[in-house]
Amino acid sequence: MDVGDVVWSSKWVASLRAVGSAQGLRSVRSAWRRHRADAVALPRQGATRARVPGAAQGAEPEPGGGVVRFARSSLRVRVAAGGAVFCGWDGAGPEPSYALAGGVPEVDERAVLEPDTDGGWRVVSERVLVTVSRHGTVEFRTPGGVVLRRDLPPRWWEAPGGQAATGAAGAGRWMQRSEVAADARFFGLGGRAAGPRLRDGEYRLWNTDPGGSFEPGDDPLYITMPVQLVVADAGTHLAFHDNTWDGRVRLWEGEEGAGSGHDRPGRCEVRMDGGPLRSWVLVGTPARVLGGWAALTGGAAVPPAWALGYQHARWGFGTEQEVRRVAAGYRERGLALSALHLDIDHFRGHRVFTVDRERFADLPGLAEELRAQGTRLVSIVDPAVKAEPGLAVYDAGVRAGAFVKDARGREVRGEVWPGESVYPDFTDPKVRSWWGGLYEERLAQGFAGFWHDMNEPVSFAAFGDPTLPRSARHALEGRGGDHREAHNVYGMQMARAGYEGLCALRPGERPFTFSRSGWAGMQRYGGTWSGDVATGWPGLRASLALVLGLGLCGVPYSGPDVGGFTGSPSPELYLRWFQLGSYLPLFRTHAAIAAGRREPWEFGAEVLEHARAALRERERLLPYFMTLAHLAHRTGAPYVRPVWWRSPEDRALRDCEDAFLLGDALLVAPVLERGADRRAVRLPRGRWYDTATGRAYEGPGQVLLDAPLSRVPVLARAGAVIPVAGAEGGVELEVWAPAPGRTGSGVLVPDAGDGWEQPPVVRFSTRWREGVVEVEREGAAEVGHRVRLLGG
Ligand code: NOJ
Repeated sequence: MDVGDVVWSSKWVASLRAVGSAQGLRSVRSAWRRHRADAVALPRQGATRARVPGAAQGAEPEPGGGVVRFARSSLRVRVAAGGAVFCGWDGAGPEPSYALAGGVPEVDERAVLEPDTDGGWRVVSERVLVTVSRHGTVEFRTPGGVVLRRDLPPRWWEAPGGQAATGAAGAGRWMQRSEVAADARFFGLGGRAAGPRLRDGEYRLWNTDPGGSFEPGDDPLYITMPVQLVVADAGTHLAFHDNTWDGRVRLWEGEEGAGSGHDRPGRCEVRMDGGPLRSWVLVGTPARVLGGWAALTGGAAVPPAWALGYQHARWGFGTEQEVRRVAAGYRERGLALSALHLDIDHFRGHRVFTVDRERFADLPGLAEELRAQGTRLVSIVDPAVKAEPGLAVYDAGVRAGAFVKDARGREVRGEVWPGESVYPDFTDPKVRSWWGGLYEERLAQGFAGFWHDMNEPVSFAAFGDPTLPRSARHALEGRGGDHREAHNVYGMQMARAGYEGLCALRPGERPFTFSRSGWAGMQRYGGTWSGDVATGWPGLRASLALVLGLGLCGVPYSGPDVGGFTGSPSPELYLRWFQLGSYLPLFRTHAAIAAGRREPWEFGAEVLEHARAALRERERLLPYFMTLAHLAHRTGAPYVRPVWWRSPEDRALRDCEDAFLLGDALLVAPVLERGADRRAVRLPRGRWYDTATGRAYEGPGQVLLDAPLSRVPVLARAGAVIPVAGAEGGVELEVWAPAPGRTGSGVLVPDAGDGWEQPPVVRFSTRWREGVVEVEREGAAEVGHRVRLLGG
């Protein structure tokens, strides 16, 4: 929104109802304050003529590539050791960056910039060929020469008064158009409810709390990222524009044989309000590309084993007694419950890092009691601190100079659950370490995990953006800048503060943290969840879209509010959601304060019985989930993968959005429609067994499978070795017979704990020999686990 406009939020009336009228009125005041602050402090965007690079004038080779000089800009191309290609215009280098994990990766010394035909240049490397034309078009080709992506010459519009007026580096706007293959499909851009395949349209890059709840049509949501994963017949690539500013991506899928018989390429246009124009492009198979992405931005935090079990949350447990009652409900019915999550109602007047002792008199005692029953307590943590002198966290934050200030050095105040609040500046390393220390209080209360909420960050607003003024000042690691640059990384830096604080406070344990907002690289500091998904069948579909889309942006641990955040799901919808959730990394029921119940026994005996079966299966698959968590960390492959993961060239699979692969071994086909008791399932190539009936199907192709209320179709890949919990304890191997004449494999990462040791990857292979399926463990004489053979 231009700072001159005031647009009243259509959701305001609804949010007024949710927060109460006094707070609603304060949100009007807060929105006015934000509006005024920006109107005074930020320049208006004037009409200026666009700058383009102009004609090339020369080039200088450098290790890994080189710099091409144009009349009005320059382009640095550099190939990193793993094959990722960096392109930086106007002198932009890879650093500083919030996305990169270990600094700038080493260059591939073998890649050198050399003259190309037609007066351009090229950089040849093992996996990708980059060409730069005389006018600044950059093409990324496969080693065989097929173009995967063509970035057209960018355009810049300088900020009025340039850098001096705003105090921000790179404050000018820019735009870049690109072309991809006509058959290409776009994925990614963070968590998009309408995904995972991103259709024609505009996608904003500005982390946003949609307010109340969201449906598939709501965009943007809490996590946006300038990360495009593009899948085409010729190959897969990931393009990342390393820029945290507000922006917009427009996508147009291409068309083959359009019009005169020529292909119309797929197109995308990235427009950013400021910041550097620099990008990374990774090319290869989906597994290679995501592996390269993890190498660049960091491996995903491995959750402790207990965080892979089933968890139950509620906004509004209200009292310790109610928490006990719910825990007992699970216990009495024999339903394994790994964690219970306490929402803001356990705080004193919604103040973060406090406890309402009247209603939660002895949290450490409660935590210990539950722990003895196998259930951990997880605490919500909000970033906003009530602006209340005398409140310990506020006073300490003021002393530490921790809170975000405006251009005149005054605290920026917003409106959140506890009332008028201030916001720690998580882009300041000192503030992160101060905040991280505050988790000591949470640990003392007995909490084992942390749920970072409202960190887009949110300030309730009657109109305009429900966040901080864009002119608010941030440290940005000492560089200094404003909220336009800091906004999208605010949540990720809060997650970092919590994660790093917990590592310091409890060095022997891997933290369990998940954050609503985030940005590229957030996986280093834990997972996320889908936020306030509206209860309804569209919300169920959106839940899967979000998990799949985030996985393709390198964030593998997530899951929805099972049952939806709002209202009351029908028993059927609840059950279908529960069944889907049981195959997702974060398996958690949760709902809003005014919503109906979400315990499985609240929906009748039949639902309870089927939910129990789903829960048992989840428990049985825990060694597999733990293995997938380690693989995600080490290889970048998400636990939940699109069905095209191993066959991106299969176009029908590329368009399949209602099923997923869980690791390499299982294909899960959730029921996403009301009243369905059968569903079509599209199979990747090879043999697949329906795990319920044992019947074998040959892919590629589509099959119709039974999906009675009691279960959703799950297929196992022939030859798969799946580590599962044995009936008598320990890990057992479930082996699905390879197709005749074929072999199979599987891995196990044995870890049932929460420490930092890196267990080895144990590899198994399967083959037919003389009419018998043999299982071997790599490098060992014995398999070492009980084996259960199926499908043979
Ligand atoms: C918004 C979160 O998305 C939701 O999960 C939580 O229950 C509420 N805030 C209250 O804390």
